[in-house]
Amino acid sequence: MAIPFNIPYCTGKEMEHLGDVLARGRFVGGGAYSKRCAAWIEEATGCAKAILVPSGTAALDMMLLLADLHPGDEVIVPSFTFSSTANAVVLRGGVPVFVDIRPDTLNMDERAIEAAITPRTKVILPVHYAGAACDMDAIEVLAKRHGLLVLEDAAQCILSYWRGRHLGSLGAMGILSFHETKNVQCGEGGALLVNDPRFLARAEIVMEKGTDRSKFLKGEVDKYGWVDVGSSYLVNEMTAAFLWAQLEAATSIVARRVALWEAYHAALEPFERKGRIRRPVVLDEARHNAHVYPILFGTPEDRDSAMAALKDRGLQCLAHYLPLHSSAAGKRFGRSVPERLPVSERVAGTMLRLPLYMGLDVDEAIAILRATL
Ligand SMILES: Cc1ncc(COP(=O)(O)O)c(C=O)c1O
Repeated sequence: MAIPFNIPYCTGKEMEHLGDVLARGRFVGGGAYSKRCAAWIEEATGCAKAILVPSGTAALDMMLLLADLHPGDEVIVPSFTFSSTANAVVLRGGVPVFVDIRPDTLNMDERAIEAAITPRTKVILPVHYAGAACDMDAIEVLAKRHGLLVLEDAAQCILSYWRGRHLGSLGAMGILSFHETKNVQCGEGGALLVNDPRFLARAEIVMEKGTDRSKFLKGEVDKYGWVDVGSSYLVNEMTAAFLWAQLEAATSIVARRVALWEAYHAALEPFERKGRIRRPVVLDEARHNAHVYPILFGTPEDRDSAMAALKDRGLQCLAHYLPLHSSAAGKRFGRSVPERLPVSERVAGTMLRLPLYMGLDVDEAIAILRATL
C-alpha cells in the first residue's frame, strides 16, 4: 500500500460540534466556538489576544496592516518561506528584504540580519520552519539594538516553544495557520496573536472591516461606524466548531507526531553517519511540534533520484519552498542581502520532506527508507 505524503486528521468530534452549531442556528463570526478557540489559543500561547481569521495568510496580512508600514519601509524575511510571508509586506507597500537561512535549522540566519538593516528597516519577520524555533535570543537583541519590531510567522508552530515561550508570542505579534496541512487544522484557518497591547485596540477595528463594532458589542458606544481601514477577518462558526474539535486534541496530536518524528530520527541516524543524508537540527532552547521531517542530500541529483526511488516503492515525499529571492515576484518586489543566498538555493534543491501524519505506518515508511537510501 502506497504511503501518501499527508492525510489530514479528524479527531471524530468535528461532526458533534458542527451539529451543535446547526442546532444553535447562529453562524456568523465571533460566536461561541470562535470565543472558545480564541480563549484556548490565548491560554496555550500566553498572547494578550488571539483573533481567529480565515487563514495564516489573512493573519499575516492583518499583522502587516497593523504594523503600519509606509511605502518603501523594509521588512527582513528569510528567502526560504511561503509566498504569503512576503506578500503581506508587499500588499502594504513595503519591501521584503530577503536574507539567507542557516544550513542546520533551515531558519533565518541571525548572523545575516544586521547587514540587511538600513534606515528604512522597520520589522524583522522570522519564520519558524517545521515548527522549530529560530534563535529568538539573537533576533530579540538585534531588534532592540536597532529599534525594530519583531513579527513572527509561526504558521507551522502550534505547541512549539522557545525557552518555554510559545512561538508567535515572543514578537509584538505573531501568526498561526490551521491549513489542512498543519498539525491542527480546519481546512483553511489561522490566528493572529497580539502580544504587544499597543496593537490591541486597532486589531479589533481592523478585524471588523474598519468599524468600531467591537466597542459597540461591549456596550462602549451606542452605534458603530467606519473609523479606520480594515477587512473581513472573522471566521464563521462552522469553521470554528471544526477547529475546536482539533484544539481539544492538540496536545495528543503533537505528542503522537513527535513520536513519529523521533522514530524517523533514530532510524536515519546510520544514514547520516555514513554521509548519505543530513537529518534536521533543532536548537537546544527549542521544543518543536514535529510539523515536518526534512532530510537533506548532498546534491540535487541525489535528492531527485532518492525521491523517485522512494516514490517507486510507494513512499511519497515532497520538496518544499522555492526561494523567494529568485522567484519572479521576489525579484520584482523585493531584494536580497547579499545578492546570492546560497544556503536557501542549496536547501531548496537538496531537501525532501518525509510523510508525517497521524495515521502513518512509520515502520513501513522506515522499511522503505532503509531499502532505498
Ligand atoms: C511559513 C508559512 N507562512 C504562512 C503560510 C500560510 O498559511 P495559510 O495556508 O493558512 O494561509 C504557510 C503555509 O501554509 C506557511 O508555511
